[in-house]
Amino acid sequence: MGEEELYQAIFKRKSVRNYEKVQLDAVTLLEIDAFLKTITPMMPGIQTEIRIIDSSKVKGMFKVDAPHFLAFFSEEREGHLTNAGFMLQQVDLHLSSLGIGSCWQGGPKPAKEVVGPPGLEFIIALAFGKPAQGHQRSDTSEFKRDPLAKITSFQGSDPYLEAARLAPSAMNNQPWYFIKNDGTIDVFSAKSLMLDKMNHISSGIALCHLWLAALHDGKKIEFINKGNADIRSLKGYSYVISLTMV
Ligand SMILES: Cc1cc2nc3c(=O)[nH]c(=O)nc-3n(C[C@H](O)[C@H](O)[C@H](O)COP(=O)(O)O)c2cc1C
Repeated sequence: MGEEELYQAIFKRKSVRNYEKVQLDAVTLLEIDAFLKTITPMMPGIQTEIRIIDSSKVKGMFKVDAPHFLAFFSEEREGHLTNAGFMLQQVDLHLSSLGIGSCWQGGPKPAKEVVGPPGLEFIIALAFGKPAQGHQRSDTSEFKRDPLAKITSFQGSDPYLEAARLAPSAMNNQPWYFIKNDGTIDVFSAKSLMLDKMNHISSGIALCHLWLAALHDGKKIEFINKGNADIRSLKGYSYVISLTMV
């Protein structure tokens, strides 16, 4: 997998909701399927599977009219939603850099006739296909996102948090918060009755962007679950994970 190619796509990608009414050719679908096997998990201990499924086998509200969908299945374990966002965002960025449109889908689900992998639950889908509209932004001024000051206590500019800031989120609610200490960043996700699941997935997406920004800078990220009471006390948020850069 070309992490630099994914990093560059962070600054241009956008959700595509209009698609040409054609299937992608078999070679392109095989290339996408091969890419799925190269994705880096955030939590390698969690079993996952991603499948390409036809639009006719996907049902639900807010479904975009795309010819193909990726269905993400996972074991249900601590951190599995964040891991799902982290993994599937690598595909979103890859598709964007290939000139293929994509859109995260929080509502739609595989139809009952789609039998998932044993022991794994369906988590989220990503629609994709040939775009019938522009599939990228020309620069970051076109992103509708909160300023850095709203998503971190850290003052000043930071290229890693800037990449996270540009991440897509369900209803563009940008539910993440980052607290930077000496060499560590603690990551939080806004609590919500309606959107808690989506918020954890979105936080995983932002973490994918942060991880790619670190790789771009020649650094490696280690994820650590601090999991203690002090860390968990940011009002209105739940603790997701902490990371260090080495
Ligand atoms: C977890 C998640 C779920 C989403 N669900 C939907 C959806 O069901 N329908 C839709 O049209 N867009 C959906 N989106 C796309 C967001 O609305 C979009 O990412 C956000 O508005 C930011 O716009 P951008 O992706 O063009 O940067 C979802 C995004 C995420 C991350």
